[in-house]
Amino acid sequence: MSLGRILVEQGTIRVTEQAAIAAAQTMGYGDRHQSDRVAVEAMRKELGELEIAGRVVIGEGERDDAPMLFVGEELGKSLGDPDAPQVDIAVDPLEGTNLCATGAPDAVAVLAAAERGGLLHAPDTYMQKIVVGPTAKGRVHIDAPVSENLRNIATAFEREVSDLTVVVLERPRHQQLIADIRNAGARILLIGDGDLSAGVAAAVRGTGVHAVFGTGGAPEGVITAAAMRCLGGEIQARLVATNEAQHQRLAKLGYTDLDKIYSTEELAPGDEIVFSCSGVTDGQLLKGVRFFGGGTRTATLFMSLPRKMIRFVDTIHRDKLSSPVLFT
Ligand code: FBP
Repeated sequence: MSLGRILVEQGTIRVTEQAAIAAAQTMGYGDRHQSDRVAVEAMRKELGELEIAGRVVIGEGERDDAPMLFVGEELGKSLGDPDAPQVDIAVDPLEGTNLCATGAPDAVAVLAAAERGGLLHAPDTYMQKIVVGPTAKGRVHIDAPVSENLRNIATAFEREVSDLTVVVLERPRHQQLIADIRNAGARILLIGDGDLSAGVAAAVRGTGVHAVFGTGGAPEGVITAAAMRCLGGEIQARLVATNEAQHQRLAKLGYTDLDKIYSTEELAPGDEIVFSCSGVTDGQLLKGVRFFGGGTRTATLFMSLPRKMIRFVDTIHRDKLSSPVLFT
């Protein structure tokens, strides 16, 4: 049976749902670390219930810094069973810790999984990225001038550059990029955090997002690539070191060529990728967790590459059978 099928049947969706519920309970408390911690704990507990031999390849950091879901941690009920599915897991239990802590839109809980070797073990540094959906796939290049990429995206969408919306993380490092996009005439959605969910939104028509440009986390880049494989979109990326320590870290891990452009397939080469993303706060693509007294309701995007399947899952989690069921 394919990994995609096994993971669907084993409740991968529940892994991000439970992380999202835990994080959403802390929404607006102003403590991003607490929000992250509860999401990590919930995700780890659920992953431990899956009948897989799992290994975290993108996680909360190195073993010494992160007590749970650290890179290299092995998880799942079937650890040590050579016949169990051997799964590489990339997690971002709370993408947008600040967004959750302040109640801002687009905080999500995310997981991507694949067969062993199916996801690049990217270091926790930065990554320059350009992300487009299937409509503009093959029409952009990370090194092309911003105006040229925007013209090509507009042509792909059969519209004017002025009709496009590009998402950019609001950071001082993006001053020139923002000026270039403005000069080219496209609209910009500046976001405080969360370039992963923005990338996913860019690959879904109707969200109003046409591309994501700029530099964000490298781990988020790999998880975005997993989503792009499932959605038929594209990410091009390049590892970026912003200080000497990061340079040394990349070199130690064997990443010596910082000019290398990574394609979607190099970031997420697996044939058996699955992806699950649950909304924590309301966002462009997914509603956040709703608490109705007696239960919660979650919205999840679940995708399986081997099954060519995309599911929008709306789940009501009732505390007891007498809890109300909301229709809307
Ligand atoms: P957290 O969820 O860890 O807070 O990260 C959010 C995020 O905005 C990512 O979406 C993005 O890739 C990265 O941080 C950008 O890093 P920085 O805030 O250092 O510019």
